[in-house]
Amino acid sequence: MGRRTLKPTSDTPDLDTQLLLSEVLGQTRTWILTHPDVEFEGTQSQTFLRDLARCEAGEALPYVLGWWEFYGRRFQLTPEVLIPRPETELLIEEALLFLRTHPDRRMAVDIGTGCGCIAVNLAAEIPDLNIVATDIEVGALRIARNNACDHHVFSQMWFVQADLLSPLKASFDLICANLPYIPSEELVDLVVARREPRSALDGGEDGLQIIDRLMVQIPDLLAPRGRVLLEIGADQAEAVQTIVQNAIPASIVEVLQDLAGRDRLLMIDRRG
Ligand SMILES: C[S@@+](CC[C@H](N)C(=O)[O-])C[C@H]1O[C@@H](n2cnc3c(N)ncnc32)[C@H](O)[C@@H]1O
Repeated sequence: MGRRTLKPTSDTPDLDTQLLLSEVLGQTRTWILTHPDVEFEGTQSQTFLRDLARCEAGEALPYVLGWWEFYGRRFQLTPEVLIPRPETELLIEEALLFLRTHPDRRMAVDIGTGCGCIAVNLAAEIPDLNIVATDIEVGALRIARNNACDHHVFSQMWFVQADLLSPLKASFDLICANLPYIPSEELVDLVVARREPRSALDGGEDGLQIIDRLMVQIPDLLAPRGRVLLEIGADQAEAVQTIVQNAIPASIVEVLQDLAGRDRLLMIDRRG
């Protein structure tokens, strides 16, 4: 029944149904798969039908579940924050590589933290890391704080409501940012724009307005030999490289690709 209901709105109706069932029944997905004839008890059937109806009406599954997994950890989610995407794992991998090969560089910031999926994962993987998580939306910071508590990294983190880096006075070894980078006009036709917060997606007229403003702030806050990791849209590498070279002339810039071979991450190293 779930499969049939979800097919028109989902590419993965079987998986979605299993996730909804495992949430309602309080069992793992493996358990669901090995118990095809399980019966609902009490209010479970009502809850399942209500959740199914929300998905059918176009609500994203992670918001219906109230969580999503990213980099092997479960993150609380509400429609106030972006659903973490698998391609952002590239940023995590590169950040961890930098931090593990530079054990003396332990001051980091995650700008536009959303649910905290970047900052919390980095803090959990690197127990002596200090990381500031910023967002312009107070609702996002509330969710990020909850996730920091859930993953026992609250004491490593600071939460700041800020427009980019504006109120911060520090020298960061590592600056991570996955900021909105979709051009406003493109959002009109995208399903994600109806499901997820506009403030997490809208990069202004050319998609690069927020990134452009960030680059101007970076020279004052990036430590010598510090690194910036910036997620970008697949067709933005050239334009962002030009912005970086103008804003931070003493830098080395590299473009990295995601698993699908698309340009996804800009790595900016400040020369000494
Ligand atoms: C693309 S989402 C990324 C969320 C999360 N870091 C992730 O990777 O899934 C962008 C986030 O940046 C925040 N944001 C937008 N404009 C901002 C600004 N000027 N300063 C700080 N955060 C901003 C949004 O509220 C949103 O949480």
